[in-house]
Amino acid sequence: MSELSIKHLLGIKDLTIDDLNLIYETAETFKDVINRPIKKVPSLRDITIANVFFENSTRTKLSFELAEKRLSADVINFSASGSSVKKGETLLDTVNNILSMKVDMIVMRHSSPGAPHFLSQHIDANIVNAGDGTHEHPTQALLDTFSMREKLGDLAGKKVAIIGDIVHSRVALSNIYALKKLGAEVMICGPATLIPKFLTNLGVQVVSDVKHALNWCDVANILRIQLERQQIKYFPSLREYSQYFGVNKELLDSLNRQIVIMHPGPINRGVEITSDVADSDHSIILDQVENGVAVRMAVLYLLAGLKK
Ligand code: CP
Repeated sequence: MSELSIKHLLGIKDLTIDDLNLIYETAETFKDVINRPIKKVPSLRDITIANVFFENSTRTKLSFELAEKRLSADVINFSASGSSVKKGETLLDTVNNILSMKVDMIVMRHSSPGAPHFLSQHIDANIVNAGDGTHEHPTQALLDTFSMREKLGDLAGKKVAIIGDIVHSRVALSNIYALKKLGAEVMICGPATLIPKFLTNLGVQVVSDVKHALNWCDVANILRIQLERQQIKYFPSLREYSQYFGVNKELLDSLNRQIVIMHPGPINRGVEITSDVADSDHSIILDQVENGVAVRMAVLYLLAGLKK
C-alpha cells in the first residue's frame, strides 16, 4: 500500500492498520534523512502549510515546523494570542482567510474537542489535528508507538501501562486506539477520579495500584497532571498524588523487570515522575521528541501525496 485511506489526520480512530504501517515505514526513511549531514529533501517544495495554534505548545509546534522545513514546504505560523481571534473572528473565518493566501494544508491545535472535525466539513485543504482539547493527539500516538516499535519490535502482545491523568488526556485516547490496532495489551492506572468510565469499553484493563501496573508492563507511558484543565479538585494535593501515583527510582528498583519509561511532555518533575527516572537509562523521552519530526514528516508527505 502506498497511499493513506484518509484525506485528513483527525484521529487515530480513523486509521487502518495499513495506514499505521505505511506511516511507520515512511517515518523510518525520513529518520535516516534527518540524521544525514544534509537533512532536507525537496518532497513538498510547492506546498504551503499553515500551523494554526489556538493553544500553547512547545514540542508539537516546533516539531511540525521543522518537519515542514525538512520537506522544503513553505511555512506560516499562526497563534491565536495576538491575532484577530481576540477581536471576535470565528474559527472558520480565520482559517478561510489563511486558505485564501493559497495555503494547501492546515496543522491545527485547538482547545475544543472536535474543532478539526468541524473544520474538515467546511474546507477542502488537508487538516492535521495537532491536539483537540481532551479528545485526540494523533501524531503524539504515532510517535509514541513508533518509538515503542523501535525499542521492542512488533507491538502485538506487548504490554503498555498508561499512568496518570487520563480523563484530561488526548494522548491517552490516541495511544489506546493505536496500541489496540497494533495488538498490544493496554492497562490504565490512576486515581478513579482521573479515569473516565467509558474506557473499559475500549478493551483496556483499569487499575489503581501503580506498582502492579509497573510490574505488569513492558512500557510505562506516564502522563502529566493537567492542572490547567482541572476546574475541581480531583485529588487532595500534588504531594499525595506523587506519593501514590508518582513514578520514582525506588519504585523502579523494586520491580522484578526492566521497563521502558515514556512521557509525552511537558513533564511536571517531582509530581508524576521524578528527575532520576525521567533522565535515567530506562527513559526514551527525548527519543520520542526526535522521532516526532520523522513521524510528522511522514504524515505531511503522505497526506500531500493524496492531492496530486
Ligand atoms: N506532547 C505535546 O503535545 O507537547 P506540547 O504541548 O509542548 O506540544
